[in-house]
Amino acid sequence: MNPASSKKFKNPRAQHDFKGRTCSIVSVGSYVPERILRNADLEKMVETTDEWITSRTGIRERRIAADDEFTSDIAAKAASRALTKARLQAEQVDMIVVATITPDMLFPSTACLVQQKIGAHRAAAFDIEAACSGFIYGLEIGQQFIMSRTYDTVLVIGAEKLSAIIDWSDRNTCVLFGDGAGAAILQNRPGSHGLLTACMGADGTKAHLLSMPGGGSRCPATSESVAARMHYLRMDGKETFKNAVNAMYTAAKESLRRCEIDIRHIKCVIPHQANRRIIDAVGERIGAEPEQIFVNLDKYGNTSAASVAIALDEAVQCGRIQKGDLVLLIVFGAGLTWGAAVIEW
Ligand code: ACO
Repeated sequence: MNPASSKKFKNPRAQHDFKGRTCSIVSVGSYVPERILRNADLEKMVETTDEWITSRTGIRERRIAADDEFTSDIAAKAASRALTKARLQAEQVDMIVVATITPDMLFPSTACLVQQKIGAHRAAAFDIEAACSGFIYGLEIGQQFIMSRTYDTVLVIGAEKLSAIIDWSDRNTCVLFGDGAGAAILQNRPGSHGLLTACMGADGTKAHLLSMPGGGSRCPATSESVAARMHYLRMDGKETFKNAVNAMYTAAKESLRRCEIDIRHIKCVIPHQANRRIIDAVGERIGAEPEQIFVNLDKYGNTSAASVAIALDEAVQCGRIQKGDLVLLIVFGAGLTWGAAVIEW
């Protein structure tokens, strides 16, 4: 965190737990695959219309990874861009955290594959699984390692190849998701962009709302499980919608309360990019004006753990976020999980 800013805004952890070592987001980077799948293309695949998808979700197109492009490839590209912006070499990274629900394989971790691909041979590497909330969970984990002085440089990546677990014959879900990755480098670097707080939450009693039942120890792959389409993402859209609005509101309020910041002072709110109607409802409940809210889901759909990371990178690149601006990230996903983070850019 910028030393000057600590006087203006409360960094709860810095003041109470870790004797003042703060955590900065030194840089962000993102990558989306080249191939674009438009709503008009989906009209030819399932019984849907561009009008339905646009009006019910706000999504116009999404990116789809190539057949030989995997989550670790997408993640490595976003990570390399973040490293370049931070003027760091891969071998300076101490720890890699990859948030994903679409790992290349159940094991080894996608983080280990990314370590090899970018050449971060000194880094510890592991995956976390918090669905669409994964990037904020990753920021919170990374922040602890920086603030406790365990590590100096942490790479947090949210990366997904959701197209691999989408049932392309199910119109309820196939119109919603896309592929992509976003990455952030965390360090203690006074004068850089301060991560003031990150908070997380979960409710396992609602795990059934959004899941992929097949492939784990409960339902290993068999010809029956494949025939029953158990290896695809399943979602109760209506219930998920209601829970998303409440959870994102709660997370946003908690993160602002911790930092003693009023929503009016936030320059840019970056909510999880799942559905335009969820974004509007959350914006209204937290008292944000429409011009404060950053939206790019029309171009990418829901990229799960990558969503807010890609949006943060784009918001910075297009000048919506300037040095010193306060940014609020809000996420929600399967688990159920949720979280929020406040950054002083
Ligand atoms: N095209 C046309 N019709 C469709 C389509 C489609 N692509 N998909 C569903 N429908 C139909 C349904 O069959 C249903 O028809 P019926 O009423 O005859 O049964 C009807 O549309 C449902 O319409 P609505 O109730 O108006 O749909 P809703 O407003 O609930 O929107 C949606 C559905 C977009 C899925 C919404 O519920 C949603 O966004 N949910 C939240 C998703 C989310 O936030 N996920 C975040 C976490 S993701 C993660 O963690 C990986």
